[in-house]
Amino acid sequence: MLRGSKVGLRARHQEDIPILEAELYDDVVNASRAEGRPWRPITPGSKDSRAAVDDKEEGHAPFSVVALDGGALVGIASLWDIDTHNRSAHVGLGLLPSARGRGYGTDVVAVLCHYGFAVRSLHRLQIETLSDNVAMLRSAERNGFVREGVLRSSAWVMGEFLDEVLLGLLVEDWK
Ligand SMILES: CC(C)(COP(=O)(O)OP(=O)(O)OC[C@H]1O[C@@H](n2cnc3c(N)ncnc32)[C@H](O)[C@@H]1OP(=O)(O)O)[C@@H](O)C(=O)NCCC(=O)NCCS
Repeated sequence: MLRGSKVGLRARHQEDIPILEAELYDDVVNASRAEGRPWRPITPGSKDSRAAVDDKEEGHAPFSVVALDGGALVGIASLWDIDTHNRSAHVGLGLLPSARGRGYGTDVVAVLCHYGFAVRSLHRLQIETLSDNVAMLRSAERNGFVREGVLRSSAWVMGEFLDEVLLGLLVEDWK
């Protein structure tokens, strides 16, 4: 397990899946805001569950996030689209509603940076988030990510196009 100051990042366990399905993926608004694809109902236990993991997918490092204090599951985190030629990857995370606003998100980003830069020898990490997602923007900026641009009207979310902010962090700027 990878450890931060408040959270641990470990492999997905089978018992995590129903909790993640119920608290993250069955929330249509949250799922529509956090994922770049349309929400659709998935049968519990299906191999197509959004919470299920394919260990053979080399370009994706999916984690479950647990609180170090007590070990409870608090969310998901990943490096995705890992590109070993350009040595870059995208950062993704989502916390259960009860776990938000306690500093876990900021710590998850810190642990993913450690994983990306120190464990995987990447050069660049990137985050795209909706421009009104203040908690995600702050979690990224607290870890040194800088705003590189606005992707205008790039995300279709619940009936409207919203802007996304693109943030990046290079290994040489990582503290
Ligand atoms: C985005 C998310 C991961 C952030 O994690 P978090 O644990 O809630 O954030 P933190 O508690 O670490 O707070 C980070 C900063 O945002 C601020 N913040 C937290 N929640 C906020 C809110 N609802 N409104 C405004 N600011 C907020 C905190 O005060 C903190 O600011 P500071 O660094 O100046 O002190 C989490 O809220 C979440 O999972 N949201 C839903 C899914 C999602 O949006 N995922 C990202 C998709 S790109």
